[in-house]
Amino acid sequence: MTRIRVGLLGLGVVGGAAARLIDAQRHRWRRQYGLDISWRRALVRDPAKPRPVDAAGRLTVDPAEIVEAGDIDVVVEAMGGVEPAGTYVLRALRAGKRVVTANKALLAERWEQLQEAAAEAGQRLGIEGAVAAAVPCLAAFEQVLAAAQVERIDAVLNGTCNFILHRMERTRASLAEVLKEAQALGYAEMDPTDDISGRDAARKGTVLSLLAWGRRPADVQCRGIEDVTPADVAAARDAGGHLRLVVSLEAPAGGEPRLRVGPQVLPAGHPLAGLEGPDNGLCIQARPLGRLFLSGPGAGGDATACAVVGDVIRGTLARPAGSKLVVICDEREATAAAPGPGHRAADDPLAAADRL
Ligand SMILES: NC(=O)c1ccc[n+]([C@@H]2O[C@H](COP(=O)([O-])OP(=O)(O)OC[C@H]3O[C@@H](n4cnc5c(N)ncnc54)[C@H](OP(=O)(O)O)[C@@H]3O)[C@@H](O)[C@H]2O)c1
Repeated sequence: MTRIRVGLLGLGVVGGAAARLIDAQRHRWRRQYGLDISWRRALVRDPAKPRPVDAAGRLTVDPAEIVEAGDIDVVVEAMGGVEPAGTYVLRALRAGKRVVTANKALLAERWEQLQEAAAEAGQRLGIEGAVAAAVPCLAAFEQVLAAAQVERIDAVLNGTCNFILHRMERTRASLAEVLKEAQALGYAEMDPTDDISGRDAARKGTVLSLLAWGRRPADVQCRGIEDVTPADVAAARDAGGHLRLVVSLEAPAGGEPRLRVGPQVLPAGHPLAGLEGPDNGLCIQARPLGRLFLSGPGAGGDATACAVVGDVIRGTLARPAGSKLVVICDEREATAAAPGPGHRAADDPLAAADRL
């Protein structure tokens, strides 16, 4: 049994849901994967606040008790913002922890620095929860799409805006009215500026550009939904379409990636047009596979917690970064590559991992 002790930076919507998920699924993971995952401690601002889980004796206001603690193996950053989250992530990597983060603002701003620090530490950052929550789009880029040439991505990546536009379409209400409803249901933050302005979607687009082409978009244009009126939504519907906040990325052959964020009228048959409520979706055009469409819950604590904790599990089950990948080409090479008599199970970092 391999023991994974998680330290949470943040115990809000995402951190709280991750803690709840770990408490609820721990026994299944022990049986299914031979992993004993527990959360040991959580960093918060206000320890007196009510929490969605039993956190007695496990809250701290001192980040060192997580990022540099000897009894923490994986740090889950779910506090948000660029600082101090960025500094804590770097400290955790330097202290030899694996790090998982759902923080697109941090990734979009500090990608190169974080990836470099992770590589120096021989780790890979877990980032699945940062774009489109539970939709496994980053896994797709690391696997199937790693072998393909991505030409274009069109995506709906902001659950708040999708909820608002979809609801305006249904009810003919104004943006302000629907925004209040979204806030009451937990689909929009009290300060929704980052979502409504398109900035949040642009950050996620930047992360996708880095994954698809290894480069930041050279040209970014971003428009939000602040000025969308019920008349705009009705005009789109009368024309047989649906108004959505669309993130479009393309990289002309050999050229720099371009990122556009803005409201677009999509024809009714377009896969992104059918996304309802806070769902997210991505249409990815790549050679030679054609078009890939991924969709699902794009926001919310439980959906994001599955992506985040999935990264904790996957990162443990996968071969550690830096291990040599042996591509076996024929039988003679296969024989040569097989572990020889000198191979000891203890050489395998996973086998050598902490055992219960
Ligand atoms: N919510 C979603 O649906 C969603 C989806 C995908 C990704 N994300 C990302 O996940 C991250 C967390 O989002 P969230 O919605 O869970 O935020 P949240 O509910 O506001 O929770 C933030 C948590 O971090 C703690 N915190 C924040 N700043 C801190 C500081 N300086 N020192 C100590 N503790 C601090 C807060 O402590 P207190 O509780 O004491 O205030 C709180 O527990 C963000 O990067 C967000 O973009 C969120």
